[in-house]
Amino acid sequence: MCGIIGYVGAGVTRGAGEDADEETGGDRLAVGDVIHQGLRNLEYRGYDSAGVALVGETSGLTVAKRSGEVDGLTVPEVPDAAHGIGHTRWSTHGPPTDANAHPHTDCVGDVAVVHNGIVENHETLKAELSDHAFTSDTDTEVIPHLLEEELSGETEASAADDGGDAESDLLAAVQRVEDRLEGSYAICAVREGDDRIVVARRGSPLVLGRGEDASFVASDVTAFLEHTRDVTYLEDGDVAAIAPGSVDIFADGEPVEREIETVTWEANAAEKGGYDHYMRKEIHEQPEALRQTLAGRLDVDAGDVDLDVSFPPGFLADLEEIRIVACGTSYYAGRYAARLFEEYAGVRTTVEIASEYEFGAGRTPDRTLVVAVTQSGETADTLGAVRRANAAGARTFAVTNTLGSTVTREVDGTAFIRAGPEIGVAATKTFASQVATLAMLSVAVGRDRGALAAADARTVLEDLRGLPGAVQQVLDEEAAVREAAREYRDSEAFFFVGRALGVPVALEGALKLKEISYDHAEGFAAGELKHGPLALVTPDTPVLAVLTEGGRARETMNNVTEAQTRGAPALGCVTAGSEFDTLDVAFEVPDVGVVEPLVANVYLQLFAYHVANEKGRPIDKPRNLAKSVTVE
Ligand code: G6P
Repeated sequence: MCGIIGYVGAGVTRGAGEDADEETGGDRLAVGDVIHQGLRNLEYRGYDSAGVALVGETSGLTVAKRSGEVDGLTVPEVPDAAHGIGHTRWSTHGPPTDANAHPHTDCVGDVAVVHNGIVENHETLKAELSDHAFTSDTDTEVIPHLLEEELSGETEASAADDGGDAESDLLAAVQRVEDRLEGSYAICAVREGDDRIVVARRGSPLVLGRGEDASFVASDVTAFLEHTRDVTYLEDGDVAAIAPGSVDIFADGEPVEREIETVTWEANAAEKGGYDHYMRKEIHEQPEALRQTLAGRLDVDAGDVDLDVSFPPGFLADLEEIRIVACGTSYYAGRYAARLFEEYAGVRTTVEIASEYEFGAGRTPDRTLVVAVTQSGETADTLGAVRRANAAGARTFAVTNTLGSTVTREVDGTAFIRAGPEIGVAATKTFASQVATLAMLSVAVGRDRGALAAADARTVLEDLRGLPGAVQQVLDEEAAVREAAREYRDSEAFFFVGRALGVPVALEGALKLKEISYDHAEGFAAGELKHGPLALVTPDTPVLAVLTEGGRARETMNNVTEAQTRGAPALGCVTAGSEFDTLDVAFEVPDVGVVEPLVANVYLQLFAYHVANEKGRPIDKPRNLAKSVTVE
C-alpha cells in the first residue's frame, strides 16, 4: 500500500492565504519541496523507500530515490522544475532496496513512473520486453518500459493510432498501456519534454487536487490538503492528464466530467483520511488491503494459487503436522486457518499461543511445518517460538505484513499479507489479510499434496475473490452497527459466541471490544455456554453471535436461544437471506461461503469501535497496550 503524489505548478508559498504577507511572499516551496512534504504526509502508507522525479524545461528528467524513510531522501534542487512525482513504498515485490525504490524509468531515462498496487501479469509482460534492460525486482518497472515502446511507436496499436507516426503522446501511451495491465494500480507518469502528469486508476485510490494555477494528484488528499481543498476522486478506469490549473479526465478514451468536492476536515483529521481514528480508517481500508493480499495469487480457473513460496521436494507430501504459533489477534487468525489446513490440506494442524509453545516429545521435526503468524514480524514471543522450532529441527514459515522484519530472516520461507501499514494498536485489516493469506496457503498445500480436488479449490478461491466486495457491503451498513452500539454500550458485559469458523471470530470480536472499550467481553465456543458462562448471562449481557456459513449457524442459534431465554439480548451476523427472526438485531453477511465468518468479523470490529467511541476511549492507543510487543 504505497503512497504516490504528483504536482504541477510553479511551487507554493507556505502560509499563503488571507494572512500571507504579499510583500515578502512568505516562505517559497519549490516543486521538489511540495512533493517531499506531500510524501511526509503519505508516509503512513509505507516507509520502506522514497523517491521523486522532477521535470524541467531545460534540465529534463531528474530522478532521486533511496531505501529508508522519506526524511532520509535528499530532493535534488532543480530550479526550472515545473512538475514532478513522488513515491513512498510499502514493499510487495522485491526487498526495500535503493534499486526497488520508485520512480522507475525506461531504458533511456525519458519516462518515470510511480505506482501503488500490483501488476499481476508483470512476469508475462516482462517476458515480452526481453530487449529492455530492467534494474529492479518490482512489478512496476514493466510500466515505464511499456510506455517506452508506445512512445517510440514500436507497437502496432500506437503506430495505427498515430497514423504511423513514430512518436506518440504520453496520454495516449498510458491509455494503451493500461489496457495491457492486469491487477490493481494507481499510476503517475511523467516524460521529458511533456508538461503534464498522466495518471491512471484501477482498484487503488487516486484523488486530484485542483488549485487555481497548480494541480495535484495523490493516493490520499492528506498529501496536498495544505495547498487545496478542492478535490476530484477518480473512478476505476479513469485516465487523466493534469497541467497547471487544468485537468482532463477520460474514461474508455472519451472525455468525462467528474465532480469537484470540497474537503471540510480539520487539519488534524487529515492524516487519518477524514476518520476520527486510525482504527476506523483501517477497518474501512479492508477491501483495498484484501485486494492487495489476493492480487495475482488466485488462479480460479486452474483451482490453484501462486504464493511464490517453495518447499523442498517431497516435503509437503510427507507432512505430518502443521503447528501455527502466534499471539493476540494473529493467534485468532491462526485458529481460523487451522480448520482450513485440516480440511483443504488434509494435515493435522494445531495452533499454539507462541509464549506457550514447545516442540514437545513424540513429534517428527522433519515432517513438521511451524507457521508463525505475526503482523509486525517482531513480536518477541513469536520469535521465541520460531527459535525453539528451528532448534528442534522443524521447517519454519512466516506469514507477516512486514518485509525485512526479524521473523523473515529466521524462517525458511515467508508469505506476505500485503495489508499496508497498520497504525491502530487494535489489529483490524491485518487480521483479514492474514486469514486470506493463510486460506490461500491451505489451498496451495492441499493442491500440492493432492488432498484437494481442483473443483473444490475453485469454490474456495471464488469465495476469496468475493471477499473484498463482501467486506465493502458490510462497511456500507456501518450506521446500523453504530445504532446497536449506542443501544447496548452501557451493558455490564458482552459475550461473543460461534461454532467452527465462528469460534475464532467470536474470540477476536471479544478481544477487539475489551481492548478498546475496556468493557468486560468474553468469547466462547457456543456449545460451551451451557457448561459455565451461562451462569453470567442476564438481561444486561448482550450475546453477539456468528450465524453464517462455515459457523454451524443452526446449532449456534440454539445456544443463542438458551441465552435469550435467560433474558439476554441477542445480536447476530447472519448469511443474507437466512431467517433467524428471533434475534434482537441481525446484521447480514453476503454469501461468500467459507469466508463468511471473516466478513462477519467486520461487523464486530465496527461494533467494538462504536462502543469505544461512544465512551470517548483513546481508541488508537488503548491503555497499557502496544502495537508491537518486543519483550517476552
Ligand atoms: C500486540 C498487539 C496486537 C497483536 C499482537 C501480536 O499485542 O497489540 O494487536 O495482535 O501484539 O502482534 P503481531 O505483530 O505478532 O501480529
